[in-house]
Amino acid sequence: MQALLLAGGLGTRLRPLTEDWPKPMAHVGNRPWLEHLILMLKNQGIDDFVLAVKHFPEKIQHHFGKGDKWRVRIRYAVERSLLGTAGAIKNAEPLLQDRFLVFNADIIQTFRLAPFIEAHDRRGAALSIALTEVDDPSQYGVVEQDADGRILRFVEKPRPEEAPSRRINAGIYMMEKTLLADIPSGREVSIEREMFPRWIESGVRVYGHAMDGYWMDMGTAKRYRQVHRDLLDGRLDLPVGGSEIQKGVKIGTDCDIHPGVLFVPPVLIGDRVSIGERSVIGPYTVIGDGCRIGSGVRLSESILWNRCSVDNNAILANCIFGHGLSIGTRYAMHEAVMSRIGVNYA
Ligand code: GTP
Repeated sequence: MQALLLAGGLGTRLRPLTEDWPKPMAHVGNRPWLEHLILMLKNQGIDDFVLAVKHFPEKIQHHFGKGDKWRVRIRYAVERSLLGTAGAIKNAEPLLQDRFLVFNADIIQTFRLAPFIEAHDRRGAALSIALTEVDDPSQYGVVEQDADGRILRFVEKPRPEEAPSRRINAGIYMMEKTLLADIPSGREVSIEREMFPRWIESGVRVYGHAMDGYWMDMGTAKRYRQVHRDLLDGRLDLPVGGSEIQKGVKIGTDCDIHPGVLFVPPVLIGDRVSIGERSVIGPYTVIGDGCRIGSGVRLSESILWNRCSVDNNAILANCIFGHGLSIGTRYAMHEAVMSRIGVNYA
């Protein structure tokens, strides 16, 4: 089975983290989400990947290469201009098989795909859309389906009493390649806004399939934080590595942690991290590989990507820091989302 991963969007709502970094490469539990996704799909029998890229494609290509390290095949469909979610699929057409899966690569999910693929085949669908149920559908496009699961229409941002269901598009599709003939080439085309309504109206067999499992669109800092809370609370199950040195505190290899550090769980720490005496780390804190944390530092509800340094007596609360940031001694920062442009990420 083949999967096309849409990973080329600008990620404007997650700026400044995405100012020089593709959103699907945002770290989740100290590893780029895209890597979690590829490994998870590989475990479900998918070994042929096409990555549709546009925003800092070299960061993705440098990390994954041809996929040898993960024992999968990875090829790239690179866009010169932003083509939108359907335009990106059209652009990848020469690399695609007769039927394939499509993933919005910024959706954090742990779905089992076999029942989805099986339902697509059983129904003879041209397009199957994975659906997830949300408590408040008023911010989303909600589906109306017939008794067989065929999608009759999407209702955009309905008032709660007018919502036909609580099921929304989960950003995962199974498609027959014949559909690509309908997508205009050479311009920006949205699959959600332009192609879904067109296909449904013209009688294409479009079905929806409800999925079980974790689902979160990590597109905003608020939801990105929530993903980490869910990970640290055990609601999101991802392989994060490290060994547990106390309940709820996981630490990677080659770390230099002063015995006088106080951990307030849950905490996740990567490899080669140093932390000085009297620092208090946690709760809900993730520290990436190669970070240096001084002494007397207070770090809570914060996420640091790789190679950040936080000098003595600094206080960080509810912050998200991209790779390679340095915070000076005695700085106090609350709710900061920061990145450093132009760092070499090799
Ligand atoms: P915002 O700018 O914050 O809306 O983010 P986004 O456009 O990066 O993400 P959005 O949620 O709108 O898109 C869903 C998925 O499709 C994400 O994984 C994006 O990377 C991807 N995507 C969106 N537009 C494009 C595009 O023009 N080309 C490619 N290759 N992927 C895209």
